[in-house]
Amino acid sequence: MTYELIQVRTEGERVGVITLNRPKQLNALNDALMDELGAALQAFDADPAIGCMVVTGSEKAFAAGADIGAMASYSFADVYKGDYITRNWEQIRQIRKPVIAAVSGFALGGGCELAMMCDFIIAADNARFGQPEIKLGIIPGAGGTQRLPRAVGKAKAMDMALTGRMMDATEAERAGLVSRVVPLEKLMDEALGAALMICDYSQVATMAAKESVNKAFEGSLADGIHFERRLFHALFATDDQKEGMDAFVNKRKAVFKNR
Ligand code: HXC
Repeated sequence: MTYELIQVRTEGERVGVITLNRPKQLNALNDALMDELGAALQAFDADPAIGCMVVTGSEKAFAAGADIGAMASYSFADVYKGDYITRNWEQIRQIRKPVIAAVSGFALGGGCELAMMCDFIIAADNARFGQPEIKLGIIPGAGGTQRLPRAVGKAKAMDMALTGRMMDATEAERAGLVSRVVPLEKLMDEALGAALMICDYSQVATMAAKESVNKAFEGSLADGIHFERRLFHALFATDDQKEGMDAFVNKRKAVFKNR
């Protein structure tokens, strides 16, 4: 399969590396990109030579969120009937081999959620995490309201979701969102080093370790995500979603009417 919005390679013939590649849009995540990412991850998962995957972005952005321009005109009927997010964003959760997120620059909205869907996050010192959806008149829709509190606790998760502020790499490590922070120029070496170490172990054991840790982490996550998705879809019925996204697309300040 040829890919247009991601780059795919192997490292040491054992690590599958996927680089999100919409640099001009700061790797904003659209449906086509998420289809490609899912296909590439599934291909690596099915390849017996591959023991671990690394998902990364550019120096400036892991991913600055779901593509706001693409979402701006969606209606409730569009997102609900089309099963937006559920249809293709969560393929990464079906992947049974370990997946590491190597994050530099912005990991915002859906980008932060994508990083959290990976098994652990290694961050560069310039990484910035956030769930700024509230500024667009919506809420996180790819698990952010469920995975962020599990990672950093309620206080910080509420702060992030309600103010839309960003968290730098130091705060993210202190809070437990990321496992390691390294200088930007060492990010890929660190991530690939961890991945190669994982590849040296039994694939059966690493898959079992991943599955078992997720059992502890994801207790009632499915219900939480389902609940979040229904609310997320419903917000596309509001004027404030149209206003928030139109304001972003047209580079002006949003004026919300609370309806
Ligand atoms: C579409 C985006 C984008 C996005 C950036 N761009 N983020 N396009 N969707 N999420 C585009 C900009 O429009 C711009 O295009 C180009 O990328 C460069 O961005 P700038 O804003 O010029 O860069 P900078 O000034 O450095 O600011 C970086 C930034 C800012 C702070 C990350 O771009 C920003 O706030 N982006 C939006 C972040 C966000 O709200 N994310 C959540 C999205 S909602 P042009 O054509 O002007 O060069 C979401 C919902 C998730 O993720 C729910 C389910 C997944």
